[in-house]
This record gives sequence, structure tokens and C-alpha cells, in this order.
Amino acid sequence: MKLCMIGTGYVGLVSGVCFSDLGNTVYCVDKDIKKINSLNKGVVPIFEPGLEEILKKNYKQKRLFFTTDLKKAVLNSDVIFICVGTPTKKNSDSADLKYVFNAVKALKKLISKYKIIVTKSTVPVTTGDKIEKILKNLKNKKLVDVVSNPEFLREGEAIRDFIYPDRVIIGTDSKKANKILKSLYLPIIKKSSRYFNTSRRGAELIKYASNSFLATKISFINEIANLCEQTGVDVKDVSLGMGSDQRIGDRFLRAGPAYGGSCFPKDTRALIDIGKKFKTNMSIVKSVVSSNNSRKLSLIEKAKLILNYKLTNKKITFLGVTFKPNTDDMREAASIPMINYFNKTNCKITYYDPSGEKNEFKHLKNVKYSNSLSAACLNSDLIILHTEWNEFKLLNFKKLVKKNNFKVFDMRNLYSPSKMKKLNIKYFGIGR
Ligand code: UDX
Repeated sequence: MKLCMIGTGYVGLVSGVCFSDLGNTVYCVDKDIKKINSLNKGVVPIFEPGLEEILKKNYKQKRLFFTTDLKKAVLNSDVIFICVGTPTKKNSDSADLKYVFNAVKALKKLISKYKIIVTKSTVPVTTGDKIEKILKNLKNKKLVDVVSNPEFLREGEAIRDFIYPDRVIIGTDSKKANKILKSLYLPIIKKSSRYFNTSRRGAELIKYASNSFLATKISFINEIANLCEQTGVDVKDVSLGMGSDQRIGDRFLRAGPAYGGSCFPKDTRALIDIGKKFKTNMSIVKSVVSSNNSRKLSLIEKAKLILNYKLTNKKITFLGVTFKPNTDDMREAASIPMINYFNKTNCKITYYDPSGEKNEFKHLKNVKYSNSLSAACLNSDLIILHTEWNEFKLLNFKKLVKKNNFKVFDMRNLYSPSKMKKLNIKYFGIGR
């Protein structure tokens, strides 16, 4: 099949590359000429394990093209995926749809033969209706079908998530569009997943409901972790005990810092906003957002308590600062408010992250990036294990710190409290 991906951000690029690997011809379009030029040289602008290899392979085999020429890409494609960003509008919780509508307006001028227009970008329920309204003339002439096909890729696991999705959701009442999209997804549906054809509005809402539910699960276990700390229970036991009930499920029950990333914070807020527009109080999601915000502050308090509120001249080391491992993404990372807070005290902060130095901290006078794990840990008073990168899972803290009385705040519960006790290391986890 011939496909056009509008937008080479996370969703557009990963899906485009993976669709080409399934044997389709894919045109990835972006307005950003620099990005297109570098993609044409095989340089991938995002940190995603495995992506570069698949990109280069399909590019060589001339199944994958990067271009700024929307017209050429559209004329050569049967299905057009809109994969542009839908960031939160300034001073509001709403998703900003200007990039989506700009793409649709551009398409309106180019289509003269039947095409399926698919929104992969996360868009509020009824956006498909608005797109169809813009394309009314084409729709009346049966030249377009507008479909919602939300994307559930996780950063750092995107290739695997694409090839082995739990489900593929196609929101359309057009039998023709559904048949074509089913055949496009057939190679991956066969392997593992459920193919689900629903209404377009249903598909749009499924995406927000899924992300908000996962954020709820995380916030729930984080609050249970707070209670565990007061009652001497290990939250890992609670996650395991709860998660073994198949009705609950054991995934996304890891207590840790406030959740972050490009999706959960944005999509929970957008769902509250959608609820407001349709006069429905999303009270649970509102509590989740507020619980997650308070968590950022309460964990700063916990770190201060670990240091007995004696911060002057203390060296604090952050291991990992990204919102999760296997990505260089800093969006909404819980490390940002923490490091900003400690920068304003008399502490010296050093951080090490396998994905490199971060612009977010370059201007902070008490914050230093170290490109070596051991140099970052040397002589530290408090090691804060913020992101669970694999290389942090088997550390010999004593060898690294080379100093007495240092403390470890393991925000991802990677280490065993009893083993740490045996080693005589002052260890603090989350909810244990
Ligand atoms: C998420 C959704 O999982 C994905 O389906 C959607 O397409 C985009 O948003 P992503 O943001 O890449 O993916 O990361 P995810 O692995 O879901 O983690 C999000 C946040 O939750 C991270 O801050 C992570 O550390 C946190 N998390 C996740 C927990 O604190 N505990 C968990 O058990 C799981």
C-alpha cells in the first residue's frame, strides 16, 4: 500500500518507518527542511532504540521517503495519516488543534481521487467531525473517508509496541475504509492483537480514556505507597498482591516519582477539558492530576527529610533525569522541579544520564552534568535514583561513592532494602 505520514515527530516517524518495514511504500512529510535533510542522511532526530537500523534498511530499499513536498506525497498515496502534534494550549488545558486543521486545509486543495485520511495524532472527541466539515465537498463527492486510528506507542518501546500492539483501533463507519485499513494492519493483527472497528468518536475517546486510566493506576499506587510508608508495608508486595487479580492486572502499578512524559500529563488535562465542553465532570481524572502535582512537591520534602534538612554544601547526585528510561525526553520529568528546587538551596547537584546533558539544567548555577557515572557519584551525600535505566540496576554504591554515611533515595525501588541494610547503606525507597 502507498502511505503518507504528515509529521515526522514521534508517532509519524515510528509508524512510518514500521509501516515501510511491513512492505508498504511510505512518504514521510514534514515542513522542517532541516529535519527532512537529516533523515535523508539516515540521522534520526529522536532517541528510540532500534529505529535507526529499520529506517536505514527501508530507505535503502526505496520503500521509505522523506520529503517536504506534501503534494507529491499525497498524490502518490492511498492513505494519509495525520501525525502532527496536539500540545496543550497556553494558559489552558485544551489540546491545540491548529497543526491538525492546517494539515487538513492543505489536503483539501490536493485531493482529487479517493483517499483515506486518518488521524493518528491524539485528538479530542468530535475532531473527526470537524475535519469532515472542512472536507465537506470532497466527502459529498465520496473522495475521502475520515478515520480515527489512535496510536498507543510508548517511548523507548515503540518498535515492539508497533509490531505487537495489544489492539488496533479503527474508528469509522465506512466499510470501504475499514476494509483497506484492516488489510494494512493484517500482518501485525495476525501476530497478537485485537482489531477493533468502532465509531470515529469512540476511537478518539478510547485514546484519552486509556491514557487517563493508566495515569490513574499510577497515581493510585503512588498514594498507596504513601500509606505504606506510614504503616511499614512494602508497596511492591501490595502491587504484586493486587496485580495478581486478573481484573486489576499487574502492569502500571510501579510506585515512583510523579508520572511524566509527553502524553499522560497532556492527555489527562485535555480529558478534563473535553469533559467541561460536554458538561461532564471528570472528577477522578481531576484528582489524578492534582495528586500527581502534589507528588512532585512531597518527594522534594522526602529528599530534604532524608538529609535531615541539612542541605548546606551537600552533594546530591541524580542518576537519570529523563521521565523514563530508553528515551532522552525530559518533558514533564519529575527531576525538573526537584533539581530546580535544590539549585536554589546551598546544595551542589551533579547528574548523570545515559542520554546525555540536558538543556533544562544548563543555566542552573549549582547543577553540573557528569558524563561518567562514577565521577557523578564520587563523594556524594545523597544519591537520588530517579530513572530506572538498566545500567543503574546493579551498582556497587560503596565503591562508587568512596565516602562514609552517604544515603541512597531509590525512587524506582530497584534495590532490596534488606540487602542494603546488610551492606550498612542508608537506603530509602518509595512506599517501603
Ligand atoms: C504513554 C502510554 O503508555 C502510551 O500508550 C501512549 O501512546 C503515550 O503515553 P509513554 O509516555 O512513552 O507512553 O510512557 P509510559 O511507559 O507509559 O510511562 C509514562 C510515565 O508513567 C513515566 O513517567 C513512567 O515512569 C510512569 N510509570 C509507568 C510509573 O510511574 N509506574 C508504572 O508502573 C508505569
